[in-house]
Amino acid sequence: PKVAVLLGGPSAEREVSLSSGQQCAAALREEGFEVVEIDAGTDLVARLDAAAPDVVFNALHGRWGEDGCVQGLLEWLGLPYTHSGVLASALAMDKQRSKQVFRAAGLPVVESVLAGKAEVRARHVLSPPYVVKPNNEGSSVGVYLVHEGSNGPPQLDESMPETVMVETYAPGRELTTTVMGGQALGVTDIITDGWYDYDAKYKEGGSRHVVPAEIPDEITQACQNYALRAHEALGCRGLSRTDFRWNEARGLEGLILLETNTQPGMTPTSLSPEQAQVAGISFGALCRWMVEDASC
Ligand code: DAL
Ligand code: MG
Repeated sequence: PKVAVLLGGPSAEREVSLSSGQQCAAALREEGFEVVEIDAGTDLVARLDAAAPDVVFNALHGRWGEDGCVQGLLEWLGLPYTHSGVLASALAMDKQRSKQVFRAAGLPVVESVLAGKAEVRARHVLSPPYVVKPNNEGSSVGVYLVHEGSNGPPQLDESMPETVMVETYAPGRELTTTVMGGQALGVTDIITDGWYDYDAKYKEGGSRHVVPAEIPDEITQACQNYALRAHEALGCRGLSRTDFRWNEARGLEGLILLETNTQPGMTPTSLSPEQAQVAGISFGALCRWMVEDASC
């Protein structure tokens, strides 16, 4: 079968997506697929028409590619595609609304509110420590941490959207797990010197991943259970990755679900491919499974 890999696109996570897409395309070629790479722009429909693929491998991240927009277009064209459908993608990308879904499913999340940029600059919307982020971006683009005892509210950059999400800071270790084919893979403990920000995520040596995480079985099982329930509550399909913070001192109570990513990073050193590798699934086999699992 012929696979069109969608990559790049106009979002703030364009560079990450180029990396994910190139690696997936190379792996799929090695697996014997005919592959065409499409940098997703406004000519996407024409490019798909010209390529006439059997399956679309969506390696886009962030807005337009991860939020239901491109999924809707692929539904319209009747092309099977990887990962979640329209509704789950849109819900997961909206951090505030996905939190409402998680709360209704009995999953542990922190308090958060949507607020205008001017208001957030003028006063503490929540009591510090708290985090301010765009409601619909990934890869820690535009994330502000306001420490306890900080002098004043954060002076958000002009590039931040007019409405942002303000959430109580959940301290602790960064844990994450992937759902693949209705099962949770192992848990990764992400170790950084400071904040797990864009550089720590994507620069060589920016963070260290311990997988399986050296944490109590009870916490591993809770991460896997919560990730599966989050995947189901949002109505996700195929692969997803759910991120957590764990405040060790508080045991199971200290485990907070941060978000579910419907288009997790797919470079070979990204978290989900690493977890698959540890479970005995090579990067090529993972990409092949995703193509075979695609639907619309
Ligand atoms: N948003 C990035 C790609 C991730 O969650 O892996
Ligand atoms: Mg994310």
